[in-house]
Amino acid sequence: MNNNLNIVIIGSSRGIGREVAKHLCSQGHNLFCISRNAEALELLKKECFEIRPATAVTTLALDVSELTAGTYRLRSRITNVFERIDVLLYNAGLLVKKDFAEFKMAEAMNIFGVNFFSAAAVIKELLPLMGGERISHIVNVGSMGGFQGSTKFPGLSFYTASKAALGSLSECLAVELNDHNVRVNCLALGSAQTEMLEEAFPGYSAPLSAAEMAEFVSHFMVTGHKYFNGKVLPVSVSTP
Ligand SMILES: NC(=O)c1ccc[n+]([C@@H]2O[C@H](COP(=O)([O-])OP(=O)(O)OC[C@H]3O[C@@H](n4cnc5c(N)ncnc54)[C@H](OP(=O)(O)O)[C@@H]3O)[C@@H](O)[C@H]2O)c1
Repeated sequence: MNNNLNIVIIGSSRGIGREVAKHLCSQGHNLFCISRNAEALELLKKECFEIRPATAVTTLALDVSELTAGTYRLRSRITNVFERIDVLLYNAGLLVKKDFAEFKMAEAMNIFGVNFFSAAAVIKELLPLMGGERISHIVNVGSMGGFQGSTKFPGLSFYTASKAALGSLSECLAVELNDHNVRVNCLALGSAQTEMLEEAFPGYSAPLSAAEMAEFVSHFMVTGHKYFNGKVLPVSVSTP
């Protein structure tokens, strides 16, 4: 890959994704950042400008669930600014903590919608912009809970299962897309201090800040394809 990469970040308005955007912008990469919260994206753009005025940051307020219906044309929005995509980070996530028996199936399907089906839909939509003469890297953000044999927590059944499914999809896609020069990996993250974590585990103090986790994720996005393909990698120093 070249020095200045075209990078798409899905889930970038807060938490780890926002810190990834800031980190990669400081390195001069070209960013296309997607999330629902338009105001937060506008602030992110301003912050990126302050960090490195020359960096190209495009933002798009979008609920990625719209892609599962197949009616939203994300590809053309991206080709307005990028000829191709070097790295795609699927970081959007929905965590709902509730006893299994209390879940309505519609809620469960919504979790799988954001954490799994929207990831698949985004990848399908953007594949024509990846690989070919140069390698592209898809990084899906999973969770330690979804890593086989890891400690499980009550109330997180559908979240955890959806992240396990995302890991499995990553393994399968790596095989199918290898000949197209697309590498696919999944990072099974341990805890990082974000709003999502605070809501799931009130009062718990994570060993890593969002910025610290983002530093690793950013580095992996840019270099990980050289060392890994089709891997679900635990990134954790603690439980949870
Ligand atoms: N923090 C942890 O300890 C931890 C541990 C393991 C795994 N993870 C995973 O790491 C990822 C980031 O976690 P986080 O803690 O930073 O979470 P977060 O603070 O809740 O951030 C999630 C991001 O995804 C975006 N998003 C959610 N639903 C979306 C949708 N339908 N369409 C578009 N964007 C959407 C949110 O932006 P909008 O609200 O603006 O849409 C937000 O920018 C998640 O996938 C999470 O499951 C986190």
